[in-house]
Amino acid sequence: MAFSDLIQQAAALCKSSCRLAVLTGAGVSKESGIPTFRDAMDGLWAQYDPQELATLEAFRRNPSLVWNWYQFRRSVVQAAQPNAGHIALARLQQLCPHMQIITQNVDNLHERAGSTKVIRLHGSIALNRCSGNCQGNPTHLTIDRAIPATGDEPPACPHCGKYIRPDVVWFGEVLPAKQIEHAKQLARTADVMLVIGTSGVVQPAAHMPVIARSAGAKIIEVNPVKSEVTPLAHVWLQGPSAEILPQIIEAIDNV
Ligand code: OAD
Repeated sequence: MAFSDLIQQAAALCKSSCRLAVLTGAGVSKESGIPTFRDAMDGLWAQYDPQELATLEAFRRNPSLVWNWYQFRRSVVQAAQPNAGHIALARLQQLCPHMQIITQNVDNLHERAGSTKVIRLHGSIALNRCSGNCQGNPTHLTIDRAIPATGDEPPACPHCGKYIRPDVVWFGEVLPAKQIEHAKQLARTADVMLVIGTSGVVQPAAHMPVIARSAGAKIIEVNPVKSEVTPLAHVWLQGPSAEILPQIIEAIDNV
């Protein structure tokens, strides 16, 4: 089938959907200059494997290393702008008000592009919390004058003095219960699921397209290369999301 026909097919499915769910991964932010998890990194942090830094064990072993890696990632996220793919998804939500985005990304580029009610499965890199989970009020901490940075070490929690840590889900940690339940419910009830820029290897997020497909949803995937999701997809749009998603919107406008 010609690529333009696949775009038309995806546009028709989105337009006629009554319950459109969208699952995004790191690929959707790639054209904003944020490296995906499984891409090779350049520069200072190239020697480190993200999967070995994004764990509680790594933080316990070397808090300064993990903290500074997150400070670096924060600086990348802060400097980044939403790309044409994020903007197209915000527009799609205007066209399909029932649509909901489930994201594995810890940047806030969907929201900055104008999307609302985004379900974050892996937390937010913009926030910190106590590594001892002391639940002092406020639980989410920003770094300001009240929490002085101590050299390269993570700052101390103002409530209990333990290190603070980024409010993201690390490998081996449990996802926030409310968000995962909400995501599962959306997957169970979706009639169309658009899966964008994820390798589909990290659970439980990777299970969402499986749930949706078993419940009868049509699956549309946007990814330049085959992923674990591709065998489930009714329509695979092979290419970068910043190019493909605006084409879907254009096709919806013309359907
Ligand atoms: P990955 O890095 O595993 O996969 C990124 C996917 O994006 C790959 O399938 C790429 O082919 C695809 N991709 C690359 N460029 C793209 C583009 N321009 N447009 C669209 N797709 C593109 O990232 P995730 O699947 O998001 O979790 O990884 C899932 C989780 O693994 C992350 O949330 C993170 C990590 O461990 C935690 O930190 C808990």
